Amino acid sequence: MTRARTVHRCAECGAEAPRWSGRCPTCSAWNALVEELREPPLVPVPAPGTGLGGGLGAGARPGPQPVSCVERVAGRSRPTGLDELDRVLAGGLVPGSVTLVAGEPGIGKSTLVVQMLGALARSGARCLLVSAEESSQQVRLRAERLGALEPDLWLFPAGSLPAIVGAVGELEPDVVVVDSIQTIAEPALGSAPGTVAQVRECARQLAAMAKDRGLTTVLVGHVNKEGAIAGPRVLEHLVDTVLTFEGERHHALRMLRAVKHRFGPTGDLGLFEMTEAGLVGVPDPSGLFLGDRRGAVPGSVVVPAMEGHRPLLVELQALVAPNKVNAARRSAQGLDTGRLDLLVAVLQRRVGLRFGGDDVYASVVGGVRVVEPAADLALGLALASALSGVAVPATVVACGEVGLSGEVRQVPRLDARLAEASRLGFREALVPASAPPRPGTIQVLRVASLAQAVDDLGMRP
Ligand code: TYD
Ligand code: MG
Repeated sequence: MTRARTVHRCAECGAEAPRWSGRCPTCSAWNALVEELREPPLVPVPAPGTGLGGGLGAGARPGPQPVSCVERVAGRSRPTGLDELDRVLAGGLVPGSVTLVAGEPGIGKSTLVVQMLGALARSGARCLLVSAEESSQQVRLRAERLGALEPDLWLFPAGSLPAIVGAVGELEPDVVVVDSIQTIAEPALGSAPGTVAQVRECARQLAAMAKDRGLTTVLVGHVNKEGAIAGPRVLEHLVDTVLTFEGERHHALRMLRAVKHRFGPTGDLGLFEMTEAGLVGVPDPSGLFLGDRRGAVPGSVVVPAMEGHRPLLVELQALVAPNKVNAARRSAQGLDTGRLDLLVAVLQRRVGLRFGGDDVYASVVGGVRVVEPAADLALGLALASALSGVAVPATVVACGEVGLSGEVRQVPRLDARLAEASRLGFREALVPASAPPRPGTIQVLRVASLAQAVDDLGMRP
């Protein structure tokens, strides 16, 4: 007989610690260690990725062979029917694969999976939605609103893992979604749903079932700031694909990214807008972001940013306001505060502008985050424009990294950025002086330094 023993496990990173302490010795998260009974795993599960082609199918393991002799398996993924999701998945869902959709509560994960299942069922796949968080009535109402009432979309409101395995055996679906992994449990473990041990054991059994049956499996996972519920991070190594679903609560924009993907590249971004009728794909995001732009206004500059492989034109805004009473404020929204401080410092020391004790605000319009250094030049010009009251012409975009000497440096993917700017009707682009020559319809204006850009645009007071 094995004796159960207690260990402490971090709800953030899943690492084990021999004794409790206020801070996880592995990832340094505070108050994240929770006590759990150590028990042997219930079923032997092969280690992740031991099967061929990312752990698909059983079959005997061959000995070593030259990589060029391994047979190519192509075109195995199945489009979900949601274009933005398929873009992120580099085609679609691979049969027998396990995908984790992680995001904060309320961001729209359940909406996304119901729409996905509706589209898959419409295209002939038998789909099972295990909903452990909402009643069948609630899910039906949502499915109805989202236009997903398909004959081959099945619901199973259960939280017990053996019941879920049984239902899959009975129904033999092509696709199963478990919403969410933190609310189901293996009763034999004896612990509550959401603990690290439960979340892991349930995911292990579901992953084994996925490989066994070639069952496409999607797990929904809540990202939770408190330590009481195990975060999706403890599952990352157990699944083939991890998608994160993000957005600002007060904006309708939602961003879907693959942070891990065994079947394709991870750089691509999927964009959705949350509407009354659910999630709507945004195939032309630049148009969306620039929709409310008011022409040439001091403090506003458009930057062709990159989000994954996609160029995205976004407007940066700055405001400089006198403040005679309190200490000066620096506020950055959707931008890195450190970058804002750096550009203010460069503008003061290398360009000779004076912010004095004024408050400085900078933001990105539309609820996206732009943290790449390629936005430096645009941010610097937005600040100089706000300070001087001289607007940058509405037909101009700017992109380049700014160094501590005020020099403007090269950025990756300049061609893709400028092509997108040109497509949206911009006519001139301020680019680093060292940028390679490029043909095209947009006129490039080379600048060696932020000071030169400020002078060229007539912003010096
Ligand atoms: P939900 O998918 O339940 O989020 P999650 O599963 O990630 O917790 O959706 C969250 C929010 O989305 C909810 O507060 C209401 C809103 N919503 C819409 O605006 N339109 C819709 O069609 C739906 C279904 C939800
Ligand atoms: Mg939900």
